[in-house]
Amino acid sequence: MKFFIDTANLDQIKEAQDLGVLDGVTTNPSLMAKEGISGEENIINHYKKICEIVDGDVSAEVIATDYEGVIKEGEALAALHPQIVVKIPMIKDGVKAIKYLSGKGIKTNCTLVFSPGQALLAAKAGATYVSPFIGRLDDISTDGVELIAQIVDIYSYYGFETEVLAASIRHTMHIIQCMEAGADVATCPLNAILGLLNHPLTDIGLEKFLADYKSVNG
Ligand code: E4P
Repeated sequence: MKFFIDTANLDQIKEAQDLGVLDGVTTNPSLMAKEGISGEENIINHYKKICEIVDGDVSAEVIATDYEGVIKEGEALAALHPQIVVKIPMIKDGVKAIKYLSGKGIKTNCTLVFSPGQALLAAKAGATYVSPFIGRLDDISTDGVELIAQIVDIYSYYGFETEVLAASIRHTMHIIQCMEAGADVATCPLNAILGLLNHPLTDIGLEKFLADYKSVNG
């Protein structure tokens, strides 16, 4: 299972990279806006900076929603850096653009996916990743992790190579649940990743080991 960090914050990306377990980054227009990144040149430079920090795939989302526009923007984003994955919304022209770009060997991430049918279309179009948003489903009293399990099963029955990238993860338990459901990737906020470190018995055990060492070694 791969870990992506779900942020455009360079400090957080560096911290996750330093931990040694990071496989990539996902961004979206809201995350870029949160960091105050605006204007084409600044946005491009920011993606390049992210690619310099991490070794793996970096999802950069298109703004266009028409077929020609998505392709033009997607090709420009992909040309920025070999690690860029073009993130495209699950809309009709988006699916067509995924088909076109995947045929050109450009990696794509189909985003804003909320149903198995949408995930099927993304896979048929040849998306590298499909991003079901589990937290946003939970927000409307629908089981987001159940959707991950459904998509993993469907892809497995038919041998689709599209990787299931669990997105909109809100907390550490979501990561565990996505692992149990068979997700290929979880894109997580930094605090959800760091939450995996914690167990009170680890803290108690370490305190005792160090105290016992000190009792005989001074
Ligand atoms: C990442 O690919 C998604 O854009 C992101 O996980 C959405 O998360 P949110 O639902 O917390 O905004």
